[in-house]
Formats: sequence, C-alpha cells, structure tokens
Amino acid sequence: MNKKITTSALLSVSAMLLGCNNSALLSEPAAKSKVTTGAANISQTKDIVSLQQHFAEHFKIGTALSRAQILKEFPQELVAAKAHFSTFTPENSMKWERIHPEPEVYDFLASDALVAFAQENNQELVGHTLVWHSQTPDWVFENDAGEPLTREQLLARMEQHINKVAGRYKDKIFAWDVVNEAFNEDGTLRESKWLEIIGPDFLAQAFTMAQKAAPNAKLYYNDYNLFKPEKRAGVIKLVNDLKANGVRIDGIGMQGHYALDYPDLSQMEDSIIAFAQTGVEVMITELDISVLPFPEDSEQGADVGLNVELQAKYNPYVNGLPLAVEQQLADRYKQLFTILKQHSDKLSRVTFWGVSDRQTWRNDWPMTGRTDYPLLLDRELKVKSFVTEL
Ligand code: XIL
Repeated sequence: MNKKITTSALLSVSAMLLGCNNSALLSEPAAKSKVTTGAANISQTKDIVSLQQHFAEHFKIGTALSRAQILKEFPQELVAAKAHFSTFTPENSMKWERIHPEPEVYDFLASDALVAFAQENNQELVGHTLVWHSQTPDWVFENDAGEPLTREQLLARMEQHINKVAGRYKDKIFAWDVVNEAFNEDGTLRESKWLEIIGPDFLAQAFTMAQKAAPNAKLYYNDYNLFKPEKRAGVIKLVNDLKANGVRIDGIGMQGHYALDYPDLSQMEDSIIAFAQTGVEVMITELDISVLPFPEDSEQGADVGLNVELQAKYNPYVNGLPLAVEQQLADRYKQLFTILKQHSDKLSRVTFWGVSDRQTWRNDWPMTGRTDYPLLLDRELKVKSFVTEL
C-alpha cells in the first residue's frame, strides 16, 4: 500500500479534528491535559495524519478504547481513534466484571456501542476477554452459599457466559481473546480459580465453547511477558496441545507493556519467530512503552493486581518530558519497529493499549496518578515527531 498521505486525506483528518468539540479536552483533569513544555513542541508533527496509513504496508494498527471513549464522553479521542486505527479492542468493557457483573445482570451498553462504532466504520473488533483470573467477580466461582463451585458447575457457568457474550456478537466480532494470562513467568499454568476448580483443561474447554458460540470469530490466546523463553515455551505447548486435541486456536497475542529498558527486544523477536512456527497468527496486542522508572521491588510485566504506593521519585515528568528522554523513547520505538517490520509477514496486527498519552493505563499502573508518555499520540492527540522514522 502507498505510504504517502495525500493532501486530501490530510485535510479531511484535520477537518474532522477541527470540527470536533473542545469541551472534552477542557474537562480533563488539569494534571493530565496540561503537560506542555518545550519538549511538547517537538512531539507534534503534521507529517503523519494517520498511523494506520503510515504502517499500512506492514500491519494493521489498532488501539484499546475505554468505556468513556466508546460512550462519546471524549469525542476528540474517538475522532483520532477513527483516523489512526483500523482495529479496536475494548479496554475494559467486555471483561467479566463489567459485562456480567452479577449472576443475572449483563451490561452490554458499552460493548453494543463499540460493536456499532466498528461496524459503521468498517473496522475490526477484538473481544477482550472471555476467561481471565483478573477483573472477574468472586461470585463466578461460588454458589449462592458462597461455597466453591464444582468443576461441572464452573464449566456450565463458563459456557453460559461465553454463549451469552460471544454469542451476542457472533458475526459482528472479528476475533476473541478467549483466554488471557493463564501462565506464570516460568511457563507453568498460573494458580487461578479456573485452574483450581476445572483443572488444566479449562483452556481447551474455553476455546471449544468460544468456537461453538462464535464459529466465525478468530480465537486467540493473549498474555504479557511472552518474550521470556520459559513462558514462550508454555504457550507453544498450549498451542500444540490444543491443535493435537482438535481444538481450534488461531493466534497468540503478545501484550507488549514495555519500558525504555524492558524487555530485551531480541527475546521478543525470538518469540515472534517461534510462535509463527506453530502456524498460528502472531500479533502485538497491548503496546505501550513507559518512560517512567519502574519500582525496583516489583515484577515488570502487566500484572493488573500490582498497586505500588505513589512516590515522587517514580513520577519525574509531571511538567513535561525532557528532550533527552523523548529521544530515548524515540530510539526505543525505532528499535522495536525495526524488528516488528522485519517480521511483518508473521504479524497480523499491532495494537496500542490506548489512543494517546492523555488516557493511558500507564498513568495509573503500577501506581496511580503518574504522568507517563508511552504512546504515539501525545496529550494533544498529535502524532509524535519520531513516528515519521518508524
Ligand atoms: C487494564 C486496563 O487498561 C485498565 O484500565 C484496568 O484498570 C486494568 O486492566 N493486560 C490486559 C488488559 O490484558 O486487559 C489490562 O488492561 C492491562 C494488562
């Protein structure tokens, strides 16, 4: 595909952005929206108006969308999302605790809106996620008396949930992250209620149920830290075992919550190659590169349960990103995309975990209230200048 952006494309995206209401920007918390320094100037460029066009010859480019974005509380973010990305993932709206908060209660407000948005714009939607140990209410694993369910009962509940959620969007959702984060760092299965009650075949069960509920959707396994050789081996074994048992799995999602010095990108590259050799699709599903110091005693990765106390030393760029650090971020992104582009024949998609630095979970993980700069769009929704070099 042609990488050059035509003048008319440039004008139409600018017009969309200009035509948009400014009130959402103004109503953002000051700390998050007003980070402008000299450094901010260099992070703005008009050369790239659309990330999806910029990377079109290599891979599809996607983003996560938050509930507030989906429900149009931030119209400018949505306009930018439409311009820059061609595949979307709900950041939280389809997680069990949100879409099925109580046994008899389903909340499809945001997910229906997202499905409609993706359909209107002819964009792909990746459902996230059907089976996960996090953001899943305790009641899921208990009976009315608060006692643990039996294997059969939990399987029935899993099936009911998958039928209801994946079934509802049967031919409207392109793919599902069927199971999220089932592995420990050493490649063994994580101790979760799913494993404890159902046993190690809970993954095969989930994929089988998803295939029945949404036969035309692609079915993915998604996890963080998949660059680690041991974790990589665990996932490859999973894929091979599923296939050997006649259970369909279509892809592996490598989350990609990274930092300036984490991980070793050559290990990530090894994983892309090894995963591709299993014959399934490989994709980067949740990319962001934090510029902030990571607390020494905590494990890097993306354990959403991690919640470290905020300390000033971990939040050094509240008033703007120094040029030298922006340069480090640029270099890191360049190294990463050099590898990704080299393997674009194996990568179906690169999805960022958020539209812009203004609203990214990295501002709140692994501690709340920081000012991070992990994405390719800055707080004013401008494409960072180094992106032209990616
Ligand atoms: C994160 C969301 O971005 C946050 O808003 C939420 O509070 C916690 O979860 N791995 C995943 C994503 O698969 O679902 C997580 O998203 C980030 C780590």
